Amino acid sequence: MKPEAAFSKMMKNNPELLECLSSSGIVSDDIIEFLLKAGIQAPSGDNAQPWKFASSKNKIKVFLDREADQSFFNINQIASIISCGAVIENITIAASFFGIKTDVNYLPDKNCENLMANLSFSFVKDKKEITKDSLFDSIWKRNTNRKFYNKSSVHSSILNDIKLLISSLPGTSIHFVTEKDAIKRLAKIVYKVDQIRTQNRSLHEHLNSMIRFTDQEAQIKRDGFPLKNLEAGMAGELFLKATKSWQVMDVLNKTGISKIAAIHSYQGILNSSGVALIFVDGLDKESFLKGGRTLELSWLALTRQNLSVQPMTAITLFWLRWLIKGKDEFSKGQQTLLALVWKDFHEIFADVDFNTNGTVVLFRFGISDPVSIGTLRKNVEDFILQ
Ligand SMILES: Cc1cc2nc3c(=O)[nH]c(=O)nc-3n(C[C@H](O)[C@H](O)[C@H](O)COP(=O)(O)O)c2cc1C
Repeated sequence: MKPEAAFSKMMKNNPELLECLSSSGIVSDDIIEFLLKAGIQAPSGDNAQPWKFASSKNKIKVFLDREADQSFFNINQIASIISCGAVIENITIAASFFGIKTDVNYLPDKNCENLMANLSFSFVKDKKEITKDSLFDSIWKRNTNRKFYNKSSVHSSILNDIKLLISSLPGTSIHFVTEKDAIKRLAKIVYKVDQIRTQNRSLHEHLNSMIRFTDQEAQIKRDGFPLKNLEAGMAGELFLKATKSWQVMDVLNKTGISKIAAIHSYQGILNSSGVALIFVDGLDKESFLKGGRTLELSWLALTRQNLSVQPMTAITLFWLRWLIKGKDEFSKGQQTLLALVWKDFHEIFADVDFNTNGTVVLFRFGISDPVSIGTLRKNVEDFILQ
C-alpha cells in the first residue's frame, strides 16, 4: 500500500486523531507538508511542475514558476497557470480530508505577478460543510493514460454528476461530446493540429528535452515523462529515439512519415468513450486558475469512476496563441490549415463564444488498461522558496 493510502486509511479509522489535530486550531507543519505533497500530484504540461510555494502558520502561497516551461505551447504561461489551479484544487480537497476549510484568494498582490493565490486554512466544526473529501484518494491515483480506450459509452449520470460538481467553481464549464459523429469530427481536427507539433522546431525540441529516455535520467530529474509513459509501443519508441534531433525530424517531415504521431492522436480520440472541453468565462489569469481547478476536479471524479483521461491540448493552446498574439505566430501553410480547423472546431461547440471565453483543456476519456509506467514528482523541498 502507498504511504498516502495507508495514511488515509489510518485517519478514516481513527476519527479521534482528527479531533486532536484540530483542537489547537493550528494547522501543523506536518499537515502543511502533506497538503503540499497532495498539491504537487497535479498534472502539468509535459510534467514541467511549474510551481513554487511559501508557507507560514495556517497559510500556503502558491507561485507560478515561469522558468519551468517556456515552450511555444505555454502562451502567456497559460498552461502553467492552469496547472497551478490544479495544485490549488488538490490542496483544497486534501485539506477537506482533515476537516480543514481552504479560503482561496487569487492573485492577491498586484506587485507580485507570480503569486497565483494565498490559501488560508481553518478547521471547521461541522464536517458537513465539507463536500469534496471523497475525491481525496483519487489525488494519488489520477494520471494521464495515453493507451487506446474501450469505446463503450459512459453512463450519462456520471457526466451529469461531474457538471454538478464543478458548479462549485463559478465561471467555468465543461462540455462533453459523446456522439460518434462529433467524436470523429474532433479526431480529424486533432489530427490536423497535431501535425504542427512535429513541424515546429521549438515544440519538437521542447518535447524531446522532457522525455526521459533512461530510467536513470527519470530518477535523477523527476520531471518530464519516462519514455514508456508515452505508450508509443516498440515501433513508436524507436521512432522517438531516432527523431530526437531536429535535423532528422525535419527530413522526415518532408516525407510525410512524421504524420505517424498525428495519426496516433486521431486513433486515440476514436478509441475513447468521449471528449470533454473545459471553458472559462474570461481570458485573464484568475479565469485560467479556476479552469485548472475545474480540470482537476473533473479528472479526479472520472478517476474515482475508474475512467482514464488524456488531455490533448495542442488545439486549445494554439487557438489561444492565435487569439492573443495573432495568426502571424504560425507559418503561412499552418495559417491556412488552422483557419479551416477553427471553423469546424467552433461549430462543434456552437453555443460558446471563443473570442471571450478561454479554452482550458480538451481531453478524451474512457475505460482502459492501467498506464505502463507513471510520471515522477520532485520533492516538496525543491519547490519551497527560501
Ligand atoms: C495544461 C496541460 C496540458 C497538457 N497537455 C497534454 C497533451 O497535449 N497531451 C498529453 O498526452 N498530455 C497532456 N497533459 C498531461 C501531462 O503531460 C501530464 O499531466 C504530466 O506528464 C504528468 O503526468 P500525470 O498526469 O500522469 O501525473 C497536459 C496537462 C496539462 C495540465
